[in-house]
Amino acid sequence: MEVHFDGGLLRPWEISDAGELAVIADNKNIADNLRDMFPNPYSIDDAIQWLSSVLEQEGPKRYFAIIVNGKLAGSIGLTPKTDIYRKNAEVGYFIAPEFWGMGITTKALKAITAYAFRTFDIIRVYAEPFADNIGSHRVLEKAGYSLEATFKNYVIKNGVIKDSCIYSVLKENFIE
Ligand SMILES: CC(C)(COP(=O)(O)OP(=O)(O)OC[C@H]1O[C@@H](n2cnc3c(N)ncnc32)[C@H](O)[C@@H]1OP(=O)(O)O)[C@@H](O)C(=O)NCCC(=O)NCCS
Repeated sequence: MEVHFDGGLLRPWEISDAGELAVIADNKNIADNLRDMFPNPYSIDDAIQWLSSVLEQEGPKRYFAIIVNGKLAGSIGLTPKTDIYRKNAEVGYFIAPEFWGMGITTKALKAITAYAFRTFDIIRVYAEPFADNIGSHRVLEKAGYSLEATFKNYVIKNGVIKDSCIYSVLKENFIE
């Protein structure tokens, strides 16, 4: 199950991606903008462990490699929520710095959002970038997401208390 977009594609992860994943994910500029569950440094064992857990998941694919010109450029994935939040999925992504500023994440985010609404019984997709992650805010806005709220002093990253934002798009408003 591949999801194509102009200039690249999202394809399900394979265990053989571990080497390349470890190379692009082992980057503090990426880790600094993600939750602490994302390791830094990021080893090949971290890649194998994470890919194994992804490959064990049942049901429609949720996590994808972003491929540009046949090369692994980044990662994008959906976490469907449970309980009273079960009509939602959270989206997360990162891309290797050599691909920054080329519009790839914006296209990948549009593509996975369309896939999410097609594939899962959900009505809302959201993301929670740090308030100072302006690049991610721009990506979300350009992909059709809107800022819902800024949470003051909501997170701690690298020992620094930060504000965090929530951006969302509703199925009824999403234009492919
Ligand atoms: C944030 C990130 C995903 C942006 O990816 P990208 O592929 O470079 O984004 P795009 O090329 O699609 O850029 C979309 C817009 O954001 C702008 N933008 C991207 N990075 C920016 C930055 N650091 N500061 C300001 N604007 C930025 C681009 O200029 C573009 O706007 P424009 O078309 O008006 O010029 C990437 O920098 C990244 O992976 N960062 C580390 C991990 C991360 O932050 N993940 C998201 C966690 S919520």
